Amino acid sequence: MPLAVTDSPLAVPRCPRVAVVLGSGLAELASLVQDAVEFNSTNIPGYPRPTTAGHRGRIVIGALAGRKVVIIQGRAHLYEGCSPRQATFPLRLAQGLGAQSVVITCSAGGLGLPSGEILFLTDHMRAGPGPSLGAQGCAVPYDATWISLAQRAADKCGISTTRGTIMWTQGPSYETKAEIRYFMQRGARAVGMSTIPEVLEAKKLGMHVLGLALVTNAAAGLGATLLSHAEVLACGAQMQTVLKRLLPEIVRVAP
Ligand code: HPA
Repeated sequence: MPLAVTDSPLAVPRCPRVAVVLGSGLAELASLVQDAVEFNSTNIPGYPRPTTAGHRGRIVIGALAGRKVVIIQGRAHLYEGCSPRQATFPLRLAQGLGAQSVVITCSAGGLGLPSGEILFLTDHMRAGPGPSLGAQGCAVPYDATWISLAQRAADKCGISTTRGTIMWTQGPSYETKAEIRYFMQRGARAVGMSTIPEVLEAKKLGMHVLGLALVTNAAAGLGATLLSHAEVLACGAQMQTVLKRLLPEIVRVAP
């Protein structure tokens, strides 16, 4: 069905309850949304401009798995030069529109996990200084009940998933072999350059958070060839087929 396009998400008389942030190469998942209205984020003052290939600046509001959703297609990363405040603008927008729960997806390098693996985030670590919840924050931001429901739904669909901790790096360069060895010793199962600022912002906003990392490559230093962003995008695109089945199930069981 063709999308209706309007200027401002505030002009749409719908109240999305679940937000979904789509990471590298996953933009096509927005096509799952029914009764969709689409916005170009360049029309929204304060919205960060994604500059990384595979990230579109678009917002789609509609229905998925019987829930009202807002899809954030494309993100801006801290390595693009924006502040955590700017990068997390879409979360404040989604929450302001009515979203109480958010699925935050990203591509990630696998630390002992093969490409194609789907990892529910149970926690994260930061390699060096990075975004934080501030002086008051301490709780683990990831919703354990939602993870369990989502994993059960994935099992029922025959989709294999796992769970674990991700290591956040500022990027934009991929990691050195020594860094990867260190991250593995610390117990991380994947490494990525996004998601954590958004997870923390969503937590501050009082939202339920589900983090989903798609392992698009063996982390730099573990693979036989030099890692490229094109490889990450290509694997993300391949994984969309399985995610088209999984994402509605995750949204269906959202709190
Ligand atoms: N490292 C960091 N971020 C990533 C990777 C990686 O190997 N793959 C996709 N995003």
